[in-house]
Amino acid sequence: MIITIDGPAGAGKSSVSKELARRLALTYLDSGAMYRALALYMLEKGVDIDDEAAVTEHLDHVKIGFKNGSIYLGSRDVSDLIRTPEIDVASSAVSRIPAVRKYLTQLQKEIGRKGNIVAEGRDMGTVVFPEADFKFFLTASPEERAKRRMAQLESRKKNIVKHEIILQQIKKRDKADTNRAIAPLRPANDAIVIDSTNLSFQEVVEKIIDIIHEGKKR
Ligand code: DC
Repeated sequence: MIITIDGPAGAGKSSVSKELARRLALTYLDSGAMYRALALYMLEKGVDIDDEAAVTEHLDHVKIGFKNGSIYLGSRDVSDLIRTPEIDVASSAVSRIPAVRKYLTQLQKEIGRKGNIVAEGRDMGTVVFPEADFKFFLTASPEERAKRRMAQLESRKKNIVKHEIILQQIKKRDKADTNRAIAPLRPANDAIVIDSTNLSFQEVVEKIIDIIHEGKKR
């Protein structure tokens, strides 16, 4: 069983995907964390993330993997280091580079080969797992997503940024992710779009589980 959850930043994909994986006893694949870890690697090595040739050249040395729900760069757990505003921007930048997408898509397909996953990202239903059993596209208004993002930063005791600034950043990242040439952010033709602007986290999860149970009966 493969379930894909795609959508823009801050739509609630991560919490919904994790809960779905828990409820359905599937493995959670956070593809965004892989783009983030790759961006962190490049920043730490001093590679200019806008220099496509330089990033591509360094790809051979990157070792990304998951262990017990944490993301690793080589033998180092980088789960916390990848959740910063700097990496928000850098991961979106490296994700435009064709060689980066090819490299991570391959890794994701390898992880998916074992089956039984909830794969979260931007192109899980369109490119990486076109054969998925259930595809969802989770979205919400930019204002609502900025609000949720702020609450998330507050709960992690990160620097508090103004709502307006977060909203601007979200809109900028949406634009970059939607307009890039390869694997742009968009719902797959056979994806079910869920707008969570006026739904609670629990309502979204129940809705998705209902759809999966209905689909399995058919
Ligand atoms: O979901 P996230 O915010 O952790 O993702 C970080 C960035 O990685 C996002 O701005 C775009 C990129 N990304 C992507 O291009 N394709 C994916 N499947 C997942 C993330």
